[in-house]
Amino acid sequence: MTEFAPTLTEKTAAAPKAELHIHIEGSLEPELIFRLAERNGVKLAYNSIDALRAAYAFTDLQSFLDIYYAGASVLLTEQDFYDMTMAYCERALADNVVHTEIFFDPQTHTERGVAIDVVVAGIERALADAEQRGLSSKLILCFLRHLPEEDALATFDAALPLFDRYRHRLIGVGLDSSERGHPPSKFERVFAKARAKGLKLVAHAGEEGPPSYVYEALDLLKVDRVDHGVRSIEDPALVTRLADTRVALTVCPLSNLKLCVFDDLTKHTLKALLDEGVAVTVNSDDPAYFGGYVNENYRATVEALQLTDAEVYTIIRNSFEASFVTDAERDALIARLDAHWHANAIT
Ligand code: ADE
Ligand code: ZN
Repeated sequence: MTEFAPTLTEKTAAAPKAELHIHIEGSLEPELIFRLAERNGVKLAYNSIDALRAAYAFTDLQSFLDIYYAGASVLLTEQDFYDMTMAYCERALADNVVHTEIFFDPQTHTERGVAIDVVVAGIERALADAEQRGLSSKLILCFLRHLPEEDALATFDAALPLFDRYRHRLIGVGLDSSERGHPPSKFERVFAKARAKGLKLVAHAGEEGPPSYVYEALDLLKVDRVDHGVRSIEDPALVTRLADTRVALTVCPLSNLKLCVFDDLTKHTLKALLDEGVAVTVNSDDPAYFGGYVNENYRATVEALQLTDAEVYTIIRNSFEASFVTDAERDALIARLDAHWHANAIT
């Protein structure tokens, strides 16, 4: 061991990693919200950046979503979507994210009269630029679960040409927004259509909702990954099933803390799930609102749950295993992780 050996947090921060749960609208920092509001002549309910930030004291998922949708109201032009996405890519690159799978919520924009083509074109242009700088990416279209399934079906139909035009990027659908009272079963038909088109499928489940929502996501929507899923620990049979099938959970520790899913990070279920063999990953969810990008999520989780070098390696490896890249790309990403991990003994 040399005196220059890194701590586990430093080694983790420097490691190549994938992020699999990031809502691009949740990366809008208050400064950019105000800049875009001014550029577009949009009136905000808060008269300063500090006043907006002071409102980020959430009690549950809905209290966050109300502010998150208000923040997204400043996004009007293709350049706005580009600027938001590029700002996230800069933060991801700074955290040594080498691959990211990004959610976007088209209904949040189309209901304000912004065409879905404008949304995807701006995001795509930024992702193509970021790819030149070493950040590969996929895009996942999320349906808002508080709205009727008919709206999701109409959104899916409107997006059909985009799934073809951007097939290298736009590879799947997801389900987000208010979980309680909106079970996955409500979206069985639209997920069946997406499945028939060969798209990847993910859904938020077991964030605030019960384990039965995770079962529905698996059995009715037939998802490839579960977003959050932290309440799965309440059902031992579900934990066994997740471990046996290796259906990954995209866990977002700081989000869970800020939305009061857990009152302290030391009580987070990530380590218990990991101990049971579940393929957990660490992600930022809505980093502009929850106080940290992916490395800050790792740092806080390593510290609160006293994770070991081997456990962090497994979590980062899971992020590549669970990603929607090709097998050859996955092998190359894991080889990069292995090279970094084995070259760095920690203090
Ligand atoms: N949309 C953005 N962040 C979300 C979260 N954590 N849960 C559900 N929907 C969301
Ligand atoms: Zn989320």
